[in-house]
Amino acid sequence: MNAPTAKILVNDERPSVRARALLAEMTLAEKIGQMSQVEATYGYPPEYLGDRLRAGEVGSVINNVDINVVNELQRIAVEEGRLGIPLLVGRDVIHGFRTIMPIPLGQAATWNPEVVREGARVAALEASRCGVNWTFAPMIDISRDPRWGRVAESFGESVLLTNLLGTAMIEGFQGEDLGEPGSIAATAKHFAGYGAVESGRDYATTNIPDTKLRNVYFRPFEAAVDAGVSTVMTSFSDLNGVPATGNSYILEDVLRGEWGFDGFVISDWDSIRQLRIHGLTENDEESAYEAANAGVDMEMAGDAYSNHLQSLVEEGRIGLETIDRAVLSILTLKFSLGLFENPYTNPDAFPGYGSERALAAARAAALQSVVLLKNDHSVLPLRSSELESLAVIGPLADARYEQLGTWIFDGDEELSVTPLRAMQDMVGGEVELRYVRAMQNSRSCVNPEFDAAAGVAAECDAVLLFLGEESILSGEAHSRADIGLPGDQVELVRRVRAAGKPVIAIILAGRPLTLSDVVDEVDAILYAWHPGTMGGPAIADLLFGVESPSGKLPATFPRLVGQIPIYYSQKNGGKPPSKDNVVHIDDIDAFAPQTSLGMSAFHLDTCFTPLFPFGHGLSYTDFEYSNVRVSSEAIRVGDTVTVSADLSNRGDREAEEVVQLYTRDLVGSITRPVKELKGFRRIRLAPGETRTVRFDLHTDDLRFYGRDGKHRVEPGRFHAWIAGSCDAEMRTEFRIVE
Ligand code: BGC
Repeated sequence: MNAPTAKILVNDERPSVRARALLAEMTLAEKIGQMSQVEATYGYPPEYLGDRLRAGEVGSVINNVDINVVNELQRIAVEEGRLGIPLLVGRDVIHGFRTIMPIPLGQAATWNPEVVREGARVAALEASRCGVNWTFAPMIDISRDPRWGRVAESFGESVLLTNLLGTAMIEGFQGEDLGEPGSIAATAKHFAGYGAVESGRDYATTNIPDTKLRNVYFRPFEAAVDAGVSTVMTSFSDLNGVPATGNSYILEDVLRGEWGFDGFVISDWDSIRQLRIHGLTENDEESAYEAANAGVDMEMAGDAYSNHLQSLVEEGRIGLETIDRAVLSILTLKFSLGLFENPYTNPDAFPGYGSERALAAARAAALQSVVLLKNDHSVLPLRSSELESLAVIGPLADARYEQLGTWIFDGDEELSVTPLRAMQDMVGGEVELRYVRAMQNSRSCVNPEFDAAAGVAAECDAVLLFLGEESILSGEAHSRADIGLPGDQVELVRRVRAAGKPVIAIILAGRPLTLSDVVDEVDAILYAWHPGTMGGPAIADLLFGVESPSGKLPATFPRLVGQIPIYYSQKNGGKPPSKDNVVHIDDIDAFAPQTSLGMSAFHLDTCFTPLFPFGHGLSYTDFEYSNVRVSSEAIRVGDTVTVSADLSNRGDREAEEVVQLYTRDLVGSITRPVKELKGFRRIRLAPGETRTVRFDLHTDDLRFYGRDGKHRVEPGRFHAWIAGSCDAEMRTEFRIVE
């Protein structure tokens, strides 16, 4: 293919200057073309899109990863279009491309920005081979409802964790320089509040007060803007009565006005035309009007813009400056990506799929993402020298596709190494592994294989039960009302348990599941999320103690669905529950007077605590925290206090711990959460080693939007904890004075 000729020449190299010069040459129709992203999934797209590309009616294509097709689409746009403007080629690269990392929620359990950054980098390199130059990730919607299927795509419930991991993912995709080969533009999505959909039903409505939007849901997006994210995607959901795609408050006032975002905003899939279905507009023309005036610059996969923007501008309902601003930022991104110089992709210029680097990244991420929820009598790690046989039971022990999780359009299951396969490689020579799948998939019912499984369990030294959810049960539009183990898995656990052998559950899932039915039936639980391509070797390493588990929960695990929303940073309320003021339904005396039941904020039929708290995760060693202290008992606004603790490894093996800092602002102009995560660090300690872990806390880190709507710290008393989960006990205190 010939190198394209630059059709517009300017001396200044800056992308925005070049974009402005090009904009000056464009007709209104060509400008509107840049604001349209079209689907290129089916058939041979150069055939049905060719004329539109030549006419300058398309700014971006989505969902084609055939490099020959993509190069041909670019060729038509660049060599046959009047102005030779290359295409943005978009694709959901959510947690890997061919090589799949753990689902983002699993990556969040690593609490390790480095792991997330490297995962995004290798995904960007793989996607670049296909000419993809733009991804729709990270999803940084704070998610506090595990019923919501898209919790899998999130970094969980914490603002700080989402801020830092979202930023790391953006850095991994975009690299040091967007123009470098292998860098792709990232998208912060879905703005805003999508994670708060009512009852966790995907696409449902959200009602979020402004202080909560600002103190919680907006925060990761502001961090993404600070990190230089190229684009922002609107949410499908209705936010306080105005669907996000038509919401000028969030897109104009906050995103651009307050945060100075100068990239561009893309709608979600056809979400402009959905403004009519929401009941905000009467027809597509009005939807185009609302979206464009609200600040949506590009329409994904719809035709409201291509059909109606021209007449709306000609009628004066949409200003030309609105169009020009949108197109300028779209063209600026194309120049920044170097597409005018290099519109074509030579796949051989990039590492092959499933490269050593990619598999190592996937394995490291999976290893650090697995959370040891319980480990009675130190049943784990297994010692292969002490075992003759192991029962390996369950539908997810050897399921190459299912371990990859949701949103893996391009994931290659052939690269997957399953836990069964990895264990065969690791210990198959010494230990007899007896595998019974028992269920066709995670939703299957009791069948004769249950008895076979129980029989094998009885004949083996221990049982590894691979339970959980298949990929299809989480992700977009895959919300669940009952988030227990699906099918008859609980019955399978009971039958296997009855064999009397140690039972270790390894759970693969796209969300926190409610595990109350099985938690006491098993000796240990390793929670592996959907761990991706290299989930098997990572799980085998952990089961057999090559490494100690070090993942920590990025989301609270409820006991029952009825506890949702339950998250660590809840408010105290005026009648907080405690061990002394709650009663269980089974303990209520006949004719008990109304006021005898505790009078606090709890459910009668379950505990007021979750099954596993945010930040929880055990290790094979014993970590001990001591001496939590502050550098100063009182600091001034603008100063820094150092909170530190000593961490000791009291066990007999080297291991990593994620040390967590929490604070509580005791009194505020609006009530403050009982705990907020303010810092974390992964520390590796040898047996017997003690290290002091320090966190510098600036008073800016304690700012929040208060009753006056200002973002500032309010002087007063603060508690601080350093611990291995939010269930922290050792506390210190400091004051902030004016
Ligand atoms: C999802 C987005 C995604 C887009 C493109 C939509 O249905 O909500 O997150 O980026 O599709 O695939």
